[in-house]
Amino acid sequence: MAKRRIGILTSGGDCPGLNATIRGVAKACYNLLGEEKVEIIGISDGFHGLIHNECREMSPSDFSGILTQGGTILGTRRTPYKLMQVVEEDNIDKVAEMKQTYKNRKLDCLLTLGGNGTHKTANLLSEEGLNVIGLPKTIDNDIWGTSVTFGFHTAVDIGTEVVDRIHTTANSHSRVMVIEIMGNKAGWLTLYTGVAGGADIILIPEIPYNIEKVAKAVDERAKSGKSFSILAVAEGCMDAEEAKMKKKDRQRLRAENGYNTATVRIAKDIERITGFETRTVVPGHMLRGGSPSAYDRVLATQFGTRAARLISEEKYGYTVAKIGTKIGENPLSDVTMKTKFVPIDDKVVTAARDIGISFGD
Ligand code: F6P
Repeated sequence: MAKRRIGILTSGGDCPGLNATIRGVAKACYNLLGEEKVEIIGISDGFHGLIHNECREMSPSDFSGILTQGGTILGTRRTPYKLMQVVEEDNIDKVAEMKQTYKNRKLDCLLTLGGNGTHKTANLLSEEGLNVIGLPKTIDNDIWGTSVTFGFHTAVDIGTEVVDRIHTTANSHSRVMVIEIMGNKAGWLTLYTGVAGGADIILIPEIPYNIEKVAKAVDERAKSGKSFSILAVAEGCMDAEEAKMKKKDRQRLRAENGYNTATVRIAKDIERITGFETRTVVPGHMLRGGSPSAYDRVLATQFGTRAARLISEEKYGYTVAKIGTKIGENPLSDVTMKTKFVPIDDKVVTAARDIGISFGD
């Protein structure tokens, strides 16, 4: 049998667990199919590399020693899905070029590790006739059809460490600390970080807040003898008025007021209403940095090896998923164009409310 040629790319924002997943795919492919029957082609910087034919043949040694390494050995880039079928100034037909690279490199299949945007392009390429397998990566945990994505739990651990450390300053200075956690659309990371870190108030995009209620929660804590409050607020959280607006209008209004996220405004409003000294903290990309947690190393290995099985069975057009307690897969066409938001009655939201955490609603 001819060598199986497997293209692999990482696209979108980086996150811990990408290399562990790549390693899982590669090692399992070598074991399942035989080292001499497999050629892995690393595609640089996501779909950009596929468009521009920037690829390299990899060897088994490339996949050694990368389990604990953060980021991605392949490089990554954001190549927005909405522009994939648009010919821009460079006159490049991106879809045609990607198909050409796939053909020229004689690929049997293409593995795409990424989030929602990546899955949309993966599905597009699958519909164009390429053999594609997706792998769900994102610290946002918002990919439809999988209960968890790799990268999420590491980011929760890092966010929790931030909230833990902020506690000491908040307590010593009797301050309100507003910590902004990544997550523009979905609030999973903020929710889990807030609960794990013992935040007093959690604001997520799915539950629009009322600033008076947020301030009231701070005041009530003060009245009960707690001199400080900690807020975990999602990058994408919005108040009830903003929630009624179109995204474009909301962004324009925020830009006019000199901010991208609600965090600074929330802090100023809390200080104005309650009189408590308030500070903001933005860990930002630190949440995505460094080595994957033990949980993510295991998940990445399970996801990667599942993808290798799909390759050995020549089962394409799917993305790997954790479904219930099992590792399985969903058709790419089922998961694209959807976002897994936090349901307002999610069990973690309910538990948080049960212990008195306010969502500002
Ligand atoms: O999708 C992952 C994520 O970290 C989001 O939480 C965040 O909104 C976004 O990426 C930041 O993107 P960038 O790294 O391009 O600034």
